[in-house]
Amino acid sequence: MTTTTLLEQRLIARIEKEGPLTFAEYMRAALYDPQDGYYRAGASRIGWAGDYFTSGDLGPFFAHCLGRQLYQMWEELRRPQPLRVWEQGAGRGELEAGIRAWSEQQRPEFAAVLSYRSLDLQRGEDVLSSETLQELQEREGSPHVILANELVDAFPVHLVEVRRGQLYEIYVSVEEGRLCEIAAPPSSPEVATYLDRYRIPWRSFPDGWRAEINLEALRWVQLQAKLLRRGFLLVIDYGDRAARLYSRSRLRGTLLCYHRHRINEQPLVKPGEQDITAHVNFSALIDESRRHGLRLRLFTTQRAWLERQGIFEELEELRRSQFMAADQERASDQGQIALLRWYNLRQQVLTLTDPAGLGNFKVLIMRR
Ligand SMILES: C[S@@+](CC[C@H](N)C(=O)[O-])C[C@H]1O[C@@H](n2cnc3c(N)ncnc32)[C@H](O)[C@@H]1O
Repeated sequence: MTTTTLLEQRLIARIEKEGPLTFAEYMRAALYDPQDGYYRAGASRIGWAGDYFTSGDLGPFFAHCLGRQLYQMWEELRRPQPLRVWEQGAGRGELEAGIRAWSEQQRPEFAAVLSYRSLDLQRGEDVLSSETLQELQEREGSPHVILANELVDAFPVHLVEVRRGQLYEIYVSVEEGRLCEIAAPPSSPEVATYLDRYRIPWRSFPDGWRAEINLEALRWVQLQAKLLRRGFLLVIDYGDRAARLYSRSRLRGTLLCYHRHRINEQPLVKPGEQDITAHVNFSALIDESRRHGLRLRLFTTQRAWLERQGIFEELEELRRSQFMAADQERASDQGQIALLRWYNLRQQVLTLTDPAGLGNFKVLIMRR
């Protein structure tokens, strides 16, 4: 017999009383429920001991590239003092630590003015709450840079499916005491017209074609645009432009669940105990930012961005400064240890820039 989580039991009771939930409502509960939601449940789920890892887990390189990026932004803004950076969905705060370490070592004058604020649901800060953001703005002033690495993919999404040329929305219902999916007309005009906004020819797509619709991402961009008086919005995540994301060949969408480094496609299993994510529609972030007065500065792959920010030069510099023994004393223990440590570092960089993996993440910079 399969066990149910407490959250699952509460959701079943709620659906039996109030009727089916949109998938977005279900996902919000599974991830954000104040008692049992995945992101609220105390101990961190990120990292090698958790359910998944992020770029910051692969050595110091990613944070260093961000440090260089923030330094360039500071220069471009003519060196405001302080430079207020708000990292949203900061998780364990590892990027902050890495960026601070880089700044202190490489750019002390920048480190001295860097005012870095890590926000996360796990610390009780919801970046989809306008009150939370406004309060912080009133207390500390407007941010110059808003940074989000793998945040937007965690926002609750609506699910839609094409059936005989019609668009249906997927809801979560209950059958024989278990959560199940049902299809019904879209829950709002926003959901019904979303794909048309990005000129996706879904009417000609085959039966069963699915897509995720992240309305919270639009709301999040609106909130950020209000906060940014002068500065940058920097978003890193997996996803793509709408035309590539919502393509005919991606038949079942991009929704995935993560539990202990295993991936599955069963979001109704064990709500609250597994992460649920969907790829980000970057066209939506770009269009919505533009509608609120921001300009596109950069949209590229993580690999190309890391290259621009000197990841390979940093690796080469490390080899020259710390790993000469790997070349010159190969026969000795010292040389062998140096070689293994060097391979490890090089592998971190290859993983971060892998065109079939993290290297294909997207980096978006908008400017006001
Ligand atoms: C995939 S993790 C990324 C963590 C970190 N940025 C990194 O690179 O390791 C997503 C993080 O976003 C946070 N998060 C999700 N929705 C949030 C929200 N509405 N407000 C604040 N944090 C949120 C989660 O708690 C989680 O720590």
